[in-house]
Amino acid sequence: MNNFIFQNPTKLIFGKDTISSLSSEIPYDKRILITFGGGSVRSNGVYDQLKEALKNHHYIEFWGIEANPDISTIRGAIELGKREKCDYILAVGGGSVIDGSKLIAAGILYDGDPWDIVLKRDWTKEKVLPLASVLTLPATGSEMNSGAVISNREKREKFAFYSKHPIVSVLDPSTTFTLPKHQIACGLADTYIHVMEQYLTTINQSPLMDRWSESILQTIIEIAPKALNGKEDYDAMSTFMLSATMALNGFTSMGVTQDWATHMIGHEITALLGLTHGHTLTIVLPGTMWVLREEKGEKILQYGKRVFGIDGDNKEETIKEIIEKTKNFFKSLGLKIKLSENGGDISTIEEISKRFRERNARYGENRSVNSEIAKEILLHVL
Ligand code: NZQ
Ligand code: ZN
Repeated sequence: MNNFIFQNPTKLIFGKDTISSLSSEIPYDKRILITFGGGSVRSNGVYDQLKEALKNHHYIEFWGIEANPDISTIRGAIELGKREKCDYILAVGGGSVIDGSKLIAAGILYDGDPWDIVLKRDWTKEKVLPLASVLTLPATGSEMNSGAVISNREKREKFAFYSKHPIVSVLDPSTTFTLPKHQIACGLADTYIHVMEQYLTTINQSPLMDRWSESILQTIIEIAPKALNGKEDYDAMSTFMLSATMALNGFTSMGVTQDWATHMIGHEITALLGLTHGHTLTIVLPGTMWVLREEKGEKILQYGKRVFGIDGDNKEETIKEIIEKTKNFFKSLGLKIKLSENGGDISTIEEISKRFRERNARYGENRSVNSEIAKEILLHVL
């Protein structure tokens, strides 16, 4: 096991009718900037519950943080927050609203352009405003981690940066009942692949992390049909919501090496083609597994055996079977998992490869995913 530091300060408030708890969680003397997406919170009762909870607080609202939050929108929110002297941010929505709000919380206390913060990547030591969140889409783990991913549509770029965790996050699974099926599918996929990025690396580093990860993978496979069947299944959505949080809040990565190459390639696909984040990962991961089958081989075999019960004498054939099984799971979510089925072609691959070359990128647990390997991965899934 590698050395590690673990600290996760986010208070989770989980369950039915918990939005009301914000009235006592947020101090009365704060000037709150509440941030929203495009309006889904008006259709599922979240907005009304929030207004009731904060009726004795001072707040102003900022609407319109879009999926894959754009830097220009965030600049607008920061201007408003500065003008209104806001000193507390409350993000209400999916990962995009929470991520955008992490940048708002940093940007209100920064004099320059917020894109500088994104490019700096590490903002963990800087002063930021306190942030709370109400999560309505299980997927990113942003409600309990310090990461945020911001897009710059003008430059067709999308980068992650790291700041502070939310102080408190409220997760009421019944808020997810209005989610479109495609968003549920992408959320399930994102959760699954967050685990894979921290699990499918080096063998024998931590049996505890391995089994913890495998249990999340199995749980996602088990509840996916219930989460997608259109019925308002509170228990299934609770399990999904907690799984998504646990998949990317540091609890599965203690003392183990991490990959994240699939995510780095996936972010480029979103930047170029606009595809939903979780969907991009289902396209890339089978390619990553196949192209890196030498270095990841033993872990792929462990994953196949423990998660799917696949065992075989021929290593290469068994790995193929495990990748097929993984692809079939992604397809069962209703996702088309080839790049060419989703608007991508050889020029997309060339552009991503070029960007990686210009950045001198080396991703993955062994830093082996450079421009050439990324191209190979994408050609495999074209
Ligand atoms: O804008 P509204 O109207 O709220 O609609 C949203 C949006 O259109 C809708 N939605 C959310 N909750 C809903 C709902 N619709 C009906 N009922 C509800 N309860 O769903 C759409 C997508 O929302 P979005 O927030 O974009 O989805 P997600 O949570 O998947 O976030 C994706 C973003 O997070 C980043 C991604 O790259 C992407 O930019 N990620 C953030 C990470 C992190 N902070 O750690 C890690 C991830 O790997 C990921 O990269
Ligand atoms: Zn992700």
